[in-house]
Amino acid sequence: MRGMRNILVTGGAGFIGSNFVHYMLEKYPDYRVVVLDKLTYAGNLDNLRDLEQEPRYHFVHGDICDIERVEQVMREYAIDTIVNFAAESHVDRSLMEPGAFIQTDVVGPDVLLESARKFGVERYHQVSTDEVYGEILEGRARETDRLHTRSPYSASKAGGDLMCLAYFTSFGVPVTITRGSNNIGPYQYPEKVVPLFITNAIDDIPLPVYGDGSQMRDYQYVLDHCEGIDVVLHRGQPGEIYNLGTGVEVCNLYMAQLILQLLGKPQSLIRFVADRPGHDRRYALDCSKIQSLGWRSRHTFEEALEKTVRWYVDNPWWWRKIKSGEHYRAYYARQYGSRLQE
Ligand code: NAD
Ligand code: DAU
Repeated sequence: MRGMRNILVTGGAGFIGSNFVHYMLEKYPDYRVVVLDKLTYAGNLDNLRDLEQEPRYHFVHGDICDIERVEQVMREYAIDTIVNFAAESHVDRSLMEPGAFIQTDVVGPDVLLESARKFGVERYHQVSTDEVYGEILEGRARETDRLHTRSPYSASKAGGDLMCLAYFTSFGVPVTITRGSNNIGPYQYPEKVVPLFITNAIDDIPLPVYGDGSQMRDYQYVLDHCEGIDVVLHRGQPGEIYNLGTGVEVCNLYMAQLILQLLGKPQSLIRFVADRPGHDRRYALDCSKIQSLGWRSRHTFEEALEKTVRWYVDNPWWWRKIKSGEHYRAYYARQYGSRLQE
């Protein structure tokens, strides 16, 4: 892309977004990155605090659903590229309060797309998820497969994807979509299973494994995911969708056992608890399309997990603040209180 210089990263204070901001500023010395983030419970300026003195980085507090705010940012920073990470992202929370998911994950992309159309951007990239295919009991999902969403989270994300494709077809907005598998790595909010299990294990607190722990996920290192998005931004075709994962799945029980082993903690910390309603048993992606652009995952699951465990061991300042906060404690009690007592 010739004209890409001023990138708007929405949701850039979250887990993957903040990793992407670091990745892009480091890789492209002539790019400027503007983060627009609402700073929900999952948004955290600690994720970006080492960039405070970086002149090519700017932070704007705001909601992607607020069209005036979005247009103000587009104008002020002469934005030519939008990468949308902003979302309500946790499946368990979508089972508690679906409304926020519909707002941010469906209405949000619509507002951004409208702005992308008005300002004539070089690219609008939507960061989507493998969950839109629903559970894949056999084989691997391809980009052309039908969507079969089963949670309010995945249904909302599918709605966002469909709005993107509609803006490409109807108005010619140069849209690309990546559908990523589970990410792990630094700065992931400890509601998601891997940082939850690591930080619980460090403190000798039980690891709540849903059901029998046989569900399969493709856990990829977050910087591999960021690199895949970068490849699609620069080499992907407008109007196209790209699956983005390692193509290797592991079961949750193995993941929990490996975390305990890496930390030298007893396997007896594992607790089997009541399952997530509608729990998708397996996600699996066919990633040959993005591989044909030259992208490859750089980490195996074991390498990614080991790096992730090391980061949480080395950075208790980051997660202890979150876990001791009122919001997290209330969420934990609501989600796990009765489960762990049963
Ligand atoms: P996250 O929950 O860590 O971060 C989301 C960020 O979006 C937060 O900074 C939050 O403050 C911000 N945000 C929420 N609502 C907003 C709004 N209305 N306006 C502006 N900002 C808002 O999420 P994540 O895990 O980093 O996921 C990022 C994106 O990647 C999401 O779109 C998610 O669906 C997708 N994804 C995540 C994974 C994963 O494993 N985490 C895998 C595939 C795809
Ligand atoms: O697949 C991509 C998706 O991965 C992203 O789109 C989502 O934003 C992201 O949250 C993630 O969704 P999952 O539902 O797969 O992630 P989560 O970390 O919540 O759960 C991973 C697996 O671990 C899943 O099978 C449920 C299980 N689990 C989860 C939690 C929180 C447990 O067994 N115990 C738990 O306490």
